[in-house]
Amino acid sequence: MKKSLVLAMVLAGFAATSFAAEPAFLADRHVARGASCESCHGVKAPAPGAKVSSTACMNCHGSLDKVAERTKAKVPNPHYNHLIGTDCQECHKGHAQSVNLCGSCHNLDWKVP
Ligand code: HEC
Ligand code: HEC
Ligand code: HEC
Ligand code: HEC
Repeated sequence: MKKSLVLAMVLAGFAATSFAAEPAFLADRHVARGASCESCHGVKAPAPGAKVSSTACMNCHGSLDKVAERTKAKVPNPHYNHLIGTDCQECHKGHAQSVNLCGSCHNLDWKVP
């Protein structure tokens, strides 16, 4: 077998493994770490149209200041800027691809987890 083909298969294997280990959406990654639906939603069985308050996120993540401290290496800081107070879920979607809100006005090519 050609070396390049073996390498391609190995890489494909890695890609599949890391995908399985790291679910695509934020809520799934939290559930995989043991978080309950209730920890974000406040209820055991969230209904369609359910939203999550930033307070629920802060219960585990501390405060906006603490989160901003974690991302201070990024300039500008996504958690400390003129949009302070924006709901977490405006950027961090629970069950869908997250949104690069800052990039909608600025040339900031950010990947939002
Ligand atoms: C990390 C926090 C988090 C966890 C854990 C979480 N969710 Fe959500 N969920 C959200 C957010 C944020 C929204 C708002 C919509 C969005 O951003 O996708 C939402 C929305 C929803 C909605 C409304 C979706 C719609 O389009 O109407 C349902 C239903 C839901 N979640 C069910 C669940 C269930 C069931 C679980 C547990 C298996 C769960 N969620 C766990 C954050 C979470
Ligand atoms: C039950 C506790 C809990 C709640 C509630 C919670 N988180 Fe988390 N979150 C964690 C833990 C634990 C981690 C992994 C360790 C870390 O990075 O802090 C994490 C990691 C993250 C990460 C980085 C890693 C990843 O999977 O992307 C983001 C972004 C995040 N949380 C955002 C949120 C947002 C936004 C909300 C509210 C919608 C929320 N979290 C609610 C516990 C929680
Ligand atoms: C304007 C969009 C935006 C809002 C609003 C926002 N975030 Fe973030 N968040 C980001 C971006 C962008 C990153 C990725 C930073 C990076 O790449 O280092 C991030 C990363 C994170 C991380 C992971 C930090 C790490 O160590 O890698 C956590 C946890 C987090 N956010 C929690 C929150 C919580 C909780 C809220 C609400 C209080 C919130 N975020 C509001 C854009 C946002
Ligand atoms: C709705 C459009 C819009 C969004 C979304 C937006 N900005 Fe801005 N931002 C502006 C405007 C308008 C200015 C002022 C431009 C100027 O005077 O040059 C600005 C100015 C700034 C500046 C210059 C310094 C300051 O504070 O005035 C920074 C840094 C900045 N934005 C970062 C961000 C970040 C980070 C995000 C995401 C959290 C974001 N912006 C989201 C429109 C936006």
